[in-house]
Amino acid sequence: MTEAVNLDAARETFRSDACAGLARSPKHLSPKYFYDRAGSELFDAICGLPEYYVTRAETQIMQAHVSEIVAPWGPAVRLVEPGAGSSTKTRLLLEALGPTRCAEYIPVDISGDYLESVAERLRGDYPWLRVTPLAADFAVDMHLPHVADSDTARTVIYFPGSTIGNFDPPEAERVLARFRRAAGIGGTVILGLDLKKEPTVLHAAYNDSQGVTAAFNRNVLTRMNRELGATFDVEAFAHYAFFEPALGRIEMHLVSLRRQTVTLAGEMFRFAEGESIRTECSYKYDLPRAERLARRAGLRLSDAWLDKDRRFAVLELRPFF
Ligand code: AVJ
Repeated sequence: MTEAVNLDAARETFRSDACAGLARSPKHLSPKYFYDRAGSELFDAICGLPEYYVTRAETQIMQAHVSEIVAPWGPAVRLVEPGAGSSTKTRLLLEALGPTRCAEYIPVDISGDYLESVAERLRGDYPWLRVTPLAADFAVDMHLPHVADSDTARTVIYFPGSTIGNFDPPEAERVLARFRRAAGIGGTVILGLDLKKEPTVLHAAYNDSQGVTAAFNRNVLTRMNRELGATFDVEAFAHYAFFEPALGRIEMHLVSLRRQTVTLAGEMFRFAEGESIRTECSYKYDLPRAERLARRAGLRLSDAWLDKDRRFAVLELRPFF
């Protein structure tokens, strides 16, 4: 019953966001809507693509430095993961902490169903682990379950994958400020960040030769057709992704291949030939920019680990006054 109500609320938010974004010029959609079941599977496939260095670079860093990363966290840790999957990287942290140091793991995600399956799998693999899923959109709010005063566990917010790159700088600052508040004094934010690099390398990562990224991008149209009763002709939109050097970001678009009209929830949206929907921005950082962004959010860059090719960084950030 409550699950059904939540589902309706989630769908209603999706509908109103989609209508608002498609009514604007230029048209846009939030990348958070990529991740239905099919979209999540396509994203997993992207992570294994030869051109998509992001996941491999970050996993290498975590494998090489996990004990150093967890060393300063103290004897009792509450690990919070906004936008959680049950990823290899999280498991590295949980295993490095082990039953003696990991007091609790709190995965946070919009989809309650998805969270329950993540929690079940982790409880199966780590019977000692207390998993407390939290269904929330961390980009909107993230109220952690009440922590008793007697609880001395330190909070570590783990935000891997360069998901922060999906937010434009002012939003990214707000998201980090929210993490700072959730971490509290004595807490830590661990942030995975994709770094600026040769544009051709970036371009290839979002234009893979197998067309998986194109399918991932187009899937959001299929999802709107199914969940919102939209009438997108998925074949009539082309995947288009490029690096925009002035803004330091990848942009992904779906470009209408002809003049067409689409209906969604009783509203009509007109596309000129060549008109696009911007479906994602993925900002790339360098360390000085990352440090400035963190500082504006009340976080100090206290440590950083990079892979040998300096493609990706894992940052340790601490709240300051
Ligand atoms: C999950 C936001 C980090 O921007 O690289 C991958 C998503 N989009 N290929 C990214 C994505 C296209 C990814 N993030």
